[in-house]
Amino acid sequence: MPAGGAPSGLLPTGAGCGYGAGIMSDARIDNGAPSGAAGQSAGTNPPRPPAGEEGRFFGFREIDPTEKAPLVQGVFGSVASKYDVMNDLMSMGVHRLWKDMFVDHVNPRAGEALLDVAGGTGDIAFRLKKKAPDAAVTVCDLTEAMVRVGRDRAIDQGQVQREAGGIDWTVGNAETLPFTSRSMDAYTIAFGLRNVTHIDKALAEARRVLKPGGRFFCLEFSHVVIPVLRDLYDAYSFNLLPKLGQMVAGDRDSYQYLVESIRRFPEQQALCRRIEAAGFTQVKARNLSGGIACIHSGWRI
Ligand SMILES: C[S@@+](CC[C@H](N)C(=O)[O-])C[C@H]1O[C@@H](n2cnc3c(N)ncnc32)[C@H](O)[C@@H]1O
Repeated sequence: MPAGGAPSGLLPTGAGCGYGAGIMSDARIDNGAPSGAAGQSAGTNPPRPPAGEEGRFFGFREIDPTEKAPLVQGVFGSVASKYDVMNDLMSMGVHRLWKDMFVDHVNPRAGEALLDVAGGTGDIAFRLKKKAPDAAVTVCDLTEAMVRVGRDRAIDQGQVQREAGGIDWTVGNAETLPFTSRSMDAYTIAFGLRNVTHIDKALAEARRVLKPGGRFFCLEFSHVVIPVLRDLYDAYSFNLLPKLGQMVAGDRDSYQYLVESIRRFPEQQALCRRIEAAGFTQVKARNLSGGIACIHSGWRI
């Protein structure tokens, strides 16, 4: 769920995955604070988990990895009906600009098969379809309630199922995608990868379903690389976001999870390495709003 884009930090900043690039090198803000959810204050983020161990955490809470998908489903099942309005409110509309930039980056073309994983209520799918009306767009998401909201939005817009030129809506897990190998020209995942239990399994699945030469794109919250913006963003997200969640959606915990899960997600360069390890080449990262969000991309080889 897009959160907190400070207007002053809106413009994209380069963050090519040349390891050790100056803007990336002061990236960590870990201070070894113990896990603990509610009441976490700005500037006390716990360390990010070692690669491959993200499934052991639900936000700052340590869990058994088998618990993660049901907990995540619980969050999105609970917020589904308020998800779109909360996005606008929390990000002051900035998530729309990030998503526009993301889809510009994808540059979908007529006739392509496009898969939007963790597609939720369809923000990316609708944009893909607008840019390439003749493309075959499929949404796949873990949470049925999110998919239902997306499908209802499509119906409200007069869009129908894919056979008739609309979008296909599927419930499924990014780690075990219900699609045949080498069937997609592009794979997108926006604000979804941070929620999966095993990031590397999801990346392997992305590679499996892509055709050779297919393109991978991930839009996700990342690590803020501008110290003053980082402090402001931490203060905003820890102090204000859960309160907003309580006031508007009647659900403080889900928005506390949002804030914490962002701090658990791999930083830009670390994610680049894992995308490469999954079998992608030409892997690049492009920061948005000073690293509040980041677009990662790569080619399937
Ligand atoms: C923050 S929402 C993003 C929705 C949409 N992509 C957007 O940008 O507005 C995250 C979505 O990821 C989905 N999700 C979480 N874990 C998933 C998984 N393992 N496989 C597929 N979808 C998942 C959730 O159900 C939720 O709809």
